[in-house]
Amino acid sequence: MRLLFVCLGNICRSPLAEGIFIEIAERRGMRDRFTIDSAGTGGWHAGSAPDPRSLAVARSHGTSLPSVARQVTSSEVNDWDLVLAMDRSNSDTLHSLGFPPDRIRLIRSFDAGSTDLDVPDPYYGGPEGFEDVYSMLVAACEGLLDHLAAEA
Ligand code: 4NP
Repeated sequence: MRLLFVCLGNICRSPLAEGIFIEIAERRGMRDRFTIDSAGTGGWHAGSAPDPRSLAVARSHGTSLPSVARQVTSSEVNDWDLVLAMDRSNSDTLHSLGFPPDRIRLIRSFDAGSTDLDVPDPYYGGPEGFEDVYSMLVAACEGLLDHLAAEA
């Protein structure tokens, strides 16, 4: 199954989601079922490593972040089985680019314990925002893997 994690810049949230998902899938013995990537709806940071604050929070939890930032494009609308948007603005952009609507999901919709559907953008805030995002993404990725395991 091909999964793409999408945020705005592809340096803060979606690289964390990608790294956390890979780690949980490895722990569950499911890693080889997935092709995984992340991308941003904007291209300002294309070619960059993740934000140092995402790298720091990931490292503190033992999570690796493999990605280099890139911009998502309409040429790849059929390349992914599921596209996980971090917030509703990202999801709106994915719809405009022409991704099939039934393949676009808000990642927090897989966290049954959350009433908020958006992963807030931590870029302009402090390090505590990145810790909060990390926790939200662990819950969302656990739920996403529960869902995909039940579907398989
Ligand atoms: P991300 O955070 O979408 O979680 O990667 C952002 C990164 C960069 C910008 C905005 C959000 N920016 O405006 O450059």
